[in-house]
Amino acid sequence: MRSGVVAVVLAAVTLLVPSSAPQARPASAAASGSRAVVVASEPLAAEVGIDILRSGGNVIDAAVAVGFALAVTYPRAGNLGGGGFLLYRRASDGASFFIDFRERAPRSANAALFRTKDGKPDLEKIQSGPLSVGVPGSPAGLCLAAKRFGSLPLEKLAAPAVRLARKGFPVSETLAESLARAWEWDTLNKDEGASNTFGRDGRPLQEGDLLRQPDLADILESIGRKGPDAFYKGDFAARLAGGLKKLGGIMDERDLAEYAAAERTPLKGKFRDVEIVTSPPPSAGGVMLLMMLNMLESAQLEQYGHNSSESIHLMAEAMRRAFADRSEYLGDPDFSEVPVQRLTDPAYAHERWADVSLERATPSSQIGPGIAALAEGPHTTHYSIMDAEGNAVSVTTTLNWGYGSGILIPGTGVLLNNEMDDFSLGPEAPNLYGLIGREANEVEPAKRMLSSMTPTLVLRDGKAWLVLGSPGGSRIPNAVLQVLLNRTVFDLPLREAVEAPRVHHQWKPDRLDLEKRGIPADVARNLEKRGHTLRPSPWWIGEVNVAELDAGMGRVLGVADPRRGGVVAVW
Ligand code: DON
Repeated sequence: MRSGVVAVVLAAVTLLVPSSAPQARPASAAASGSRAVVVASEPLAAEVGIDILRSGGNVIDAAVAVGFALAVTYPRAGNLGGGGFLLYRRASDGASFFIDFRERAPRSANAALFRTKDGKPDLEKIQSGPLSVGVPGSPAGLCLAAKRFGSLPLEKLAAPAVRLARKGFPVSETLAESLARAWEWDTLNKDEGASNTFGRDGRPLQEGDLLRQPDLADILESIGRKGPDAFYKGDFAARLAGGLKKLGGIMDERDLAEYAAAERTPLKGKFRDVEIVTSPPPSAGGVMLLMMLNMLESAQLEQYGHNSSESIHLMAEAMRRAFADRSEYLGDPDFSEVPVQRLTDPAYAHERWADVSLERATPSSQIGPGIAALAEGPHTTHYSIMDAEGNAVSVTTTLNWGYGSGILIPGTGVLLNNEMDDFSLGPEAPNLYGLIGREANEVEPAKRMLSSMTPTLVLRDGKAWLVLGSPGGSRIPNAVLQVLLNRTVFDLPLREAVEAPRVHHQWKPDRLDLEKRGIPADVARNLEKRGHTLRPSPWWIGEVNVAELDAGMGRVLGVADPRRGGVVAVW
């Protein structure tokens, strides 16, 4: 094992949890350092972050270098061909910043494109294949972060990823397993570029095989030298757009040339004695997190106990109401007015909470959007970085499904997302995560699709305290909520706060998912008595990778969620 990296040994954990009895509780990776911590889903990339910090870089330099490295070493979710959100807090003046590098719809996309001739939603078209690809945001976002807040040259930040892509690295057991999963390999194998990169003779690479990605190394190297234009303009853009067009796609060179990452104002809220800094739209997650915390502020969960039937019931009621509002009001703020102030106002939460009963679940059919009122797909990745001064970066990035659309235009090295599925085709057409929506999140030219990604920071006594976020599609805001409540209301140590079993409700379907391990049978019975329809969750609920500053000890602690085998690298 490399020094400084604590790997999680998780022999039997795959995304899809076997449907038998409760699983054994897996161990989490936890470690602390006196200078800095990087908590991420893949060890080579986490180590790149620590190397950059050791060589004099700041936390943003580390985050950008980890982002580039994950595109090479964690191809199911790390990416250049996808998008994400980065939240940063600078300790020197306490300012926080948010970079939105979410994908956008191509200019010629519209809602009608995803309807069949008889007007029905065409889910297949929006979820897979060339029309599911949104205009990538990651190269623009990572370069903007480096330009605004980094201290080292971009070339230096891209260099470790270039090396990993050019020289290659041995396929790990986890990567081999993920490539070999039937759905993933079927998707990748359909595409010439992807199957040549991740397979040999029509079979996925095996553990120990060398994964070399020379085309990816080339584009990373030119991004390092020339900045984002290397990706969005000129020969590379022509190759990417031209290749996609041949497959039937509509993203063209102008879509690429016009893409820009956006700097937005982070959302802020208060919960008891901590401050929350989180993601604004086009993330739905930050708004929902603040709404749920506002609703639960007065619920005194601690009197009922952690994961008691009362606490779970009350959390589910908060989740149900927040998801009902998501479906109605949330979308790209550049396209429609999102009533963020109103939704995150504690007075609104008070109104929303008025009909909650401790004894009975409110049927979702009785809940609509409140002003006047999401299943997990396989992969996104979150990483948290913090130094001992309290400089903190929280990044969630994704291709949407594992390996995105599975499309890799030959000569580009870049796997493309299938993020268009995060748009809504209307209340009758739940997307991959079971999410529904309306006009606010309808496909429109050059619009950003709504996201659940929720990179978040928690401040205590005016200092960054926790850095957290998660993959998990619609489950993301709920996973973040539960770790936050576990650490604040229930005062669990960080590791237990991350390991504790989680629950998930998303309004529709009206169903409460419980992770299969750890929620006792009597608690489940009491929830059913209250009228909740329970389902053992077929997936883990999130992968919350957290960094925590112990200001008193002057140390930073990292805990990687054991659910998907993350790692902690420390300095
Ligand atoms: O942005 C979103 O909400 C989704 N595309 C995220 C997908 C995801 O988290 C899949 N991971 N497990």
